[in-house]
Amino acid sequence: MTDTITIIKPDDWHLHLRDGDVLETVLPFTISQFARAIVMPNLLPPVVSSRDAAAYRERILRAIPPGKKFSPLMTAYLTDNTDPDDLFQGWKQKIISAVKMYPANATTNSAYGVTDWRRTVKVLALMEKEQIPLLIHGEVTNPDIDIFDRERVFIDTILVAIINDFPGLKVVLEHVTTSEGVDFVAESSAKVAATITPHHLVINRNDIFRGGIRPHLYCLPIAKREVHRLALRAAAVSGNPSFFLGTDSAPHAVASKETACGCAGIFNAPGALEIYTQVFEEENALHRLEAFASCNGPNFYNLPVNKEKIVIKKTQSKSPGPVVVGSSGEEILPFLSGETLVWKVISGGGL
Ligand code: NCD
Ligand code: ZN
Repeated sequence: MTDTITIIKPDDWHLHLRDGDVLETVLPFTISQFARAIVMPNLLPPVVSSRDAAAYRERILRAIPPGKKFSPLMTAYLTDNTDPDDLFQGWKQKIISAVKMYPANATTNSAYGVTDWRRTVKVLALMEKEQIPLLIHGEVTNPDIDIFDRERVFIDTILVAIINDFPGLKVVLEHVTTSEGVDFVAESSAKVAATITPHHLVINRNDIFRGGIRPHLYCLPIAKREVHRLALRAAAVSGNPSFFLGTDSAPHAVASKETACGCAGIFNAPGALEIYTQVFEEENALHRLEAFASCNGPNFYNLPVNKEKIVIKKTQSKSPGPVVVGSSGEEILPFLSGETLVWKVISGGGL
């Protein structure tokens, strides 16, 4: 049996790093496994312009611990008023790697998001021409639509229309959670891809209510039925280059999760690569982990794969307990905190 695997160092193609003390606290977990990450722009206020993205990038670079290497790839938050010229400048100057579309009020810090995608057609036309990837939070926001159907309905009513009008646009259906999403991506052209999170590969909707309500398993899009989890696992290990790693690690203070109206988001940065590795092992597909974690993403984004390698060993360790945020003393609870992880990154992290 294989008990040590060496793969090209992976990247995280969907990550929330936040800002200030939280950024400083969570960043080392990502750096210990990933060389680069696509950093989500849903700060308050959001990262909407090239200038905002450049400034946020500087703050992230300053938070990298001495002697460690990490490249943040910045995104701009699409609004009804995004200026195509500013975006073009940011792209040309390599400040911006992609644009994130949140339907207004679909998820955490998305109040400034797009109210109707048709308002963004000028920007989408530019993005299609320049091949700037559009990263989509694919859920409709109509409260009448059942929360478990919001991704499927988004695909049917909005994603299909966007791709129909902009067939050359590069699109990532972020954190795909349904078999319909997986099928849509698999049947689309190579311009359409999806990221898959570790938590959606591990939990289904029953887990959120196992013995009581478990706020730390609440994220958006919400975990679906078992049949969807199985479809996600099949897609991740399929070898299809349109599926790649994106953790959607989304830290929130314990106090904001364990409350009457808790925030959506799962902090999975500690242990993310170990969990993906376990899933690939369970699916007898360890030989495909490198493509999913380290190659398909860079190929989609037209970037070179990393030169470094990372070594992951089959050895048990405990997933960390609550992480304390610097000055405030606030705690953030990692995904699967306290549970046993069966793989461990033993070298190559944070080179
Ligand atoms: C994310 C967050 O907290 O920023 N939450 C989440 O549940 N995934 C936002 C997002 O990606 O939807
Ligand atoms: Zn996210």
